[in-house]
Amino acid sequence: MNMIDVRVAAIEQVTPLIKHFKFVKEDGSKLPPFSGGSHIVVALDAEGRTYRNPYSLMGSPTETDAYHISVRRQENSRGGSAYMHENISVGMTLKITHPVNLFTLAKMAHKHVLIAGGIGITPFMSQIEDLNRLGAEYELHYAFRSYKQAAFVEELQKACGNKLHCYSDSDGKRLDMDALLSNQPLGTHVYVCGPSPMVVGVLETAKNLGWPDSNVHNEQFLAPPVGESFKVQLAKSNLEVQVPAEMSMLEAIEAAGVQPEYLCRGGVCGRCELSVLESDGGLEHNDHFLTESEKASCKKIMPCVSRTKGKRLVLDL
Ligand code: FES
Repeated sequence: MNMIDVRVAAIEQVTPLIKHFKFVKEDGSKLPPFSGGSHIVVALDAEGRTYRNPYSLMGSPTETDAYHISVRRQENSRGGSAYMHENISVGMTLKITHPVNLFTLAKMAHKHVLIAGGIGITPFMSQIEDLNRLGAEYELHYAFRSYKQAAFVEELQKACGNKLHCYSDSDGKRLDMDALLSNQPLGTHVYVCGPSPMVVGVLETAKNLGWPDSNVHNEQFLAPPVGESFKVQLAKSNLEVQVPAEMSMLEAIEAAGVQPEYLCRGGVCGRCELSVLESDGGLEHNDHFLTESEKASCKKIMPCVSRTKGKRLVLDL
C-alpha cells in the first residue's frame, strides 16, 4: 500500500485517556483531500512488529495542511493505542495510508441525525464541518460517561450551537433512541459511531421502527480480538505462519512478508476477505461484513479480526 510520510507537529492531552495528534507532511506539501467520515491507518514499528491502526480524521476536510486524529488509550490495548500515548512525541515521523471513507454522509438526505458515544465522536468532527459548509439540516447527539472524560465538547458547542445534544451518564442523562428515531421527517439518515451496545441499539431501534436500511449508517471498527495461537498455511505463497495469541491473523501474515489488501482493519469493509481451503476447527468470525450464511459456510474469513477455533487453517493466498 502506498504510504505517506508525516511528521508529528503537535500532541495535546484532551482528556485523561484521549490524546489529539496533528500530522503534517514530511516534505511540507499539502496532504490529500478527504471527506467527512474518512479514516487513515497509522503504521507504527515498535517492539519488533508493525502496528497498523485505523483512526478517523477530524477537522475541516477543506484544510489539508495538516491531519488531526484522536487516540483513546484502550484499557486492554494490545499495544497500538498504548504505544501512541507513551512513545510518540512531537517531531517524530510516521507512515500513514491515504484517507478512505467508509462512513460517508448521504448526499440526498433531507436531514442527518448523528449519534456518537465516547471516542466515537471523532468521525463526526469532520462530518459537521461538511454539514455546516453545505448548510445541511442536522442534529448531533453525543453520549459520554462524564464531562471530565468527554472530548471536544467546547469545540462542538461552537461548531454546532443548539444542534448539539449532550448526554452524561454521571448526570443520569440518557439518550432515548426510540423517541429520537420515532420523530424524524421522511428522508432523514441516521449515523452512529461508538461502543458496540450503542451501535447495536441504534440499528435495532431503527429496524423496529421501520427505517429503510439504506438510511442507517454505522461505523464500528473492532480492535482485533486476541485468542489462542494457531498456524495458518498460505497455499499460493507456500508459507506457513504462526499467529500468536495477541496478534491478528492479518498482522501475522504481514509480518511474514505477504501483504493482503485492507482498508479498515476493523472487520467492516470486506477488503481483506480471504478464501478458506481447509480448517480443522470452526471459524471465529468477528467481522460485521459477512452474512450469517457466509459465516456458517466457513468458506471465507476476514483476517483483520477473525481467527480459527482450531489449530490450523489453510488460506487461498
Ligand atoms: S480490512 Fe476491512 S474487513 Fe478486514
